[in-house]
Amino acid sequence: MATRRNRGPLSNIGKAMSTLAAPVIPVTAPFEREQIDLLNRVMADTDAEQRVWLSGFLAGYQAAGRPAAAPAPSATTRRPLTILFATESGNAEGLAADAKKAADRQGFAATVTDMAEVTPADAAQARNLLVIASTWGEGSPPERATDFYNTLMAEDAPRFEGVRFAVLALGDSAYVNFCETGKRIDARLAELGGERMVEHIECDLDYETSAAAWIGKTLDRLGEPGNDAEATSGGDVIQLDTRRPAAYSRTHPFEAEIAEIVNLNSSRSDKETLHVELSLAGSGLAYEPGDSLGIVPLNDPAMVEAVLRAARVDAGAIVEGIPVAQQLAERYDITTLTRPVIEAYGRLTEDTKLQALVEGADLLPYLTGRQIVDLLEDFPHALTADQLVSILRTLPPRLYSIASSLKAAPDEAHLLISAVRYESHGRARQGVASTFVADRIKKGDLLKVYVKPNRHFRLPADTGRDVIMIGPGTGVAPFRAFLQERQAVGADGRNWLFFGDRRYVHDFLYQLDWQDFVKEGVLDRIDVAFSRDAAEKVYVQHRLWEQRGDVFSWLEGGAHLYVCGDEKHMAKDVHATLRAIVADVGGRSEADAEAYLSGLAKAGRYLRDVY
Ligand SMILES: Cc1cc2nc3c(=O)[nH]c(=O)nc-3n(C[C@H](O)[C@H](O)[C@H](O)COP(=O)(O)OP(=O)(O)OC[C@H]3O[C@@H](n4cnc5c(N)ncnc54)[C@H](O)[C@@H]3O)c2cc1C
Ligand SMILES: Cc1cc2nc3c(=O)[nH]c(=O)nc-3n(C[C@H](O)[C@H](O)[C@H](O)COP(=O)(O)O)c2cc1C
Repeated sequence: MATRRNRGPLSNIGKAMSTLAAPVIPVTAPFEREQIDLLNRVMADTDAEQRVWLSGFLAGYQAAGRPAAAPAPSATTRRPLTILFATESGNAEGLAADAKKAADRQGFAATVTDMAEVTPADAAQARNLLVIASTWGEGSPPERATDFYNTLMAEDAPRFEGVRFAVLALGDSAYVNFCETGKRIDARLAELGGERMVEHIECDLDYETSAAAWIGKTLDRLGEPGNDAEATSGGDVIQLDTRRPAAYSRTHPFEAEIAEIVNLNSSRSDKETLHVELSLAGSGLAYEPGDSLGIVPLNDPAMVEAVLRAARVDAGAIVEGIPVAQQLAERYDITTLTRPVIEAYGRLTEDTKLQALVEGADLLPYLTGRQIVDLLEDFPHALTADQLVSILRTLPPRLYSIASSLKAAPDEAHLLISAVRYESHGRARQGVASTFVADRIKKGDLLKVYVKPNRHFRLPADTGRDVIMIGPGTGVAPFRAFLQERQAVGADGRNWLFFGDRRYVHDFLYQLDWQDFVKEGVLDRIDVAFSRDAAEKVYVQHRLWEQRGDVFSWLEGGAHLYVCGDEKHMAKDVHATLRAIVADVGGRSEADAEAYLSGLAKAGRYLRDVY
């Protein structure tokens, strides 16, 4: 059994199991995770004779027809279902939990397993396998699922004969590699001999309804004995429990009053980064440092007008009882240009030029830097209001790292939001949510929000541990929350911050907070990199390299390392620098240095929240 045991209490079980050579209950067994842990603990303390006695006793117990505790079928008679999720920010995990509830109601003995904690060999033991996987980076699996994914794609991957599977892929159609991870897992499981029970589904950011329908249909199919035909019609649409711990959620946000909103850049900066304080009073909303807040924005009225004009739709036309202009402002994504939008527009208008664009090599260059309004202007057609909304997806909320701790700011959540403004194809463009906050709301207004927990970006439970935080730009937001929290709980561990931005005088976000933290003995070290203050550009990775001796010695001393902010460049450059540091100071080869960092990540000591 190749289950990896590198997390928390499981590692102790692992040790106990190897010394006593007792059998290990696989994580794919039809029990709750806690039950599996408990059973493994019990089994680890038994000898061979006791295990033989137990197996005989359980067989006899079953045969004697002992009354079950509840009228539901027992775990051994219910159909087993392994729900395997791969997640970065928790959506797949939430769906997996919802699917388990629905599966249990339908009489399955369902278990939920994180892909980060098992191998394909474990998954191949499942009889019925439901995979829910998101895509990150540019078509990559979530970071913690990388080992599983690579092993599955490798030549010597285990076979999946006898495994009935179905795959739900989560993604964002704004990315070219939409749902790539889920699609590839689905294809690979079939290649390895698995029996596909239902065609995979590709879900966009507004996944709730389509995912619920697909899961309902899939559970129906998996519940049918020995049926290997493809599902064509849906079963019942299940009600997924999309409520997260708080009563307010993505689909039912809280209206938080803006208590403060201030631009932290100087008036001479070319950037605009807003510190926003929201009141959560009366909401019951709670969060941990490391969590994000989702904001439900409204579209810019000027963009609503431009889209209506380009599609030649009358602003007063009614869609589902509401004026189309209001629908576009509140409900629909009217800016993000994606392949599905062009495909839908092409189908609707039967415009051969659009169909050629979708099929040709020019699609990617066309998508780059353009928005829906460009499409409607470049390929003009008069649409009805209903036709226009039919090609649009739901307006997705945007996430922002919470920059405060409830211990320091009870009933409040602080955010650090950079206003997105740029020019492309001769047009001034604006990010929907960031400029909604920057330009269209003010102190005293209400903002729709919900908490998005991130249990994979947490401070060490042991407050004596040192932490190194690398957060240029808005990436520094969660580290303000971390330091507030560490101060409030009187953490003994040392704190070291790496911050960077463009110019010291104009862009030193939260400068006074860091100075106070230093004065109060909370922040032990701060290293800053301002890229545009000198002829040569300096970034946080250069400061890391300069301090490499101490960085490595903190890591060797057990420090936890956090990186937050830009995914495309910063996180990759920082990772390469960390690898170079481990190789140089630690005297390791590049490959061993990479393995050192993977080891830190697996031990929960190298955590990233990048976007
Ligand atoms: C977990 C998480 C935490 C986050 N935390 C923060 C945070 O603390 N602070 C913060 O400010 N943001 C944060 N973000 C990012 C945030 O969610 C939004 O993506 C960001 O504010 C942009 O949203 P918007 O609606 O303003 O822009 P959108 O309307 O979504 O437009 C952004 C899009 O515009 C395009 N674009 C942007 N710039 C250019 C350019 N120069 N040239 C061409 N195209 C361009 C890109 O396609 C980009 O995807 C976080 C994201 C995640 C996932
Ligand atoms: C930085 C970043 C990169 C992403 N890259 C992709 C991508 O390449 N393809 C895709 O389909 N979705 C991509 N997504 C969207 C996520 O897959 C989507 O938000 C999903 O619901 C996340 O699920 P999770 O919380 O389970 O990880 C990306 C999201 C972010 C924030």
